[in-house]
Amino acid sequence: MKKSNNTLGDGQSVEYVESVSDLENRIRAHKLFSRTSLENVLMRCIEQVNENSALLDLGCGAGNFFKLFYSKARTYVGVDISENLLEDFRRQHNETIVLIKSSMDELPIFQNSSFDAIFSIYSIYYSLRPVELVRSLHNLLSDVGHLFVIGPSKIEHAVEITQFCNILSTVGLKTEKNERIENFHDKIIPQITKTFQSVDIEEIDGSLYFPNPQEWARYVVSTPQVKETSSLDSDNLLSLAIDYSVSNNCLSVSKYMTALIAGKQ
Ligand SMILES: C[S@@+](CC[C@H](N)C(=O)[O-])C[C@H]1O[C@@H](n2cnc3c(N)ncnc32)[C@H](O)[C@@H]1O
Repeated sequence: MKKSNNTLGDGQSVEYVESVSDLENRIRAHKLFSRTSLENVLMRCIEQVNENSALLDLGCGAGNFFKLFYSKARTYVGVDISENLLEDFRRQHNETIVLIKSSMDELPIFQNSSFDAIFSIYSIYYSLRPVELVRSLHNLLSDVGHLFVIGPSKIEHAVEITQFCNILSTVGLKTEKNERIENFHDKIIPQITKTFQSVDIEEIDGSLYFPNPQEWARYVVSTPQVKETSSLDSDNLLSLAIDYSVSNNCLSVSKYMTALIAGKQ
C-alpha cells in the first residue's frame, strides 16, 4: 500500500493502492456474509442495460463483476490504475476485451457518446477531480446511456470498524480516513445530480454478519480503513482484531450501499 501526495485541493488524499489479496478477501466476505449482495444489486442494474451495449467499467479492479457486465456487452472496456489488478483480470478472463491502465482522472481519449453504460463500483470516490470526471462521463455516454455508481452510504458506515480503529490508534496510528465517503457524497453525487437529466438514488442495507471472530477479523483487516489507520503488520493486526471481536462480542459490520443510476436524458 502506498500513499500519495495528490490531494483534493483541501489537503486530503482519497488515493489508496489496493492489494489483490485484500480486495479478494472483501469480495469473498461480501458474497458469503452480507445481507444484500452487491451482485444482486448489480443484477438489477444490468437489467436496465440493452443487449449489445458498449460498456465502460471505471475502476474495474480484477473484473469481479465482469461476467455480469459482459452478458450485455458488445464491447467491454475496463479502466483501472492498478497494473496488478489488471494482470489478475487478464489471467482470469480470455474474452476479447480492452483493459487500460489509467487513472480515472486522466482517461484516455474516447470519442464522445462511445458508451451506452458506464459502471463504477466502489471506485469513483478515488477521483481527485470529480467535477471534470463527471462531465467527461456524461460526454462519453450515448444519448440513451446510463451511469451506474455504487459506493458506501453515509448512513451508519462500518461503525464497528471505526471503533476497532479507535483501539488501534493507541498501538500504531497512522491517520483516520473518511475523505472518500465525503468525496463521494459531498462532491461526486451532487455533481452527477447537477449534470445528468435523471438521477435515482437508493440506500441498500449490505451489512455483514460473520459466523465467527476469525472471519470478522479477516474481513476487517483487509479494509482500507484499517490498513490506513495502523502501521502494524498483517499478522499482528489479525490477532488484535480476533481479540477485539471476542472481547466485544462483535460479529457484524454495519454497511449501507448507495446505488445511483443516472440517465443522460
Ligand atoms: C474497491 S476496488 C473495486 C474494484 C471493482 N470495481 C470491484 O467492485 O470489484 C477499487 C478499485 O478502484 C481502483 N482505483 C483506485 N483509484 C483509481 C483511480 N484514480 N483511477 C482508476 N482506478 C482507480 C483500484 O485500483 C481498485 O481496483
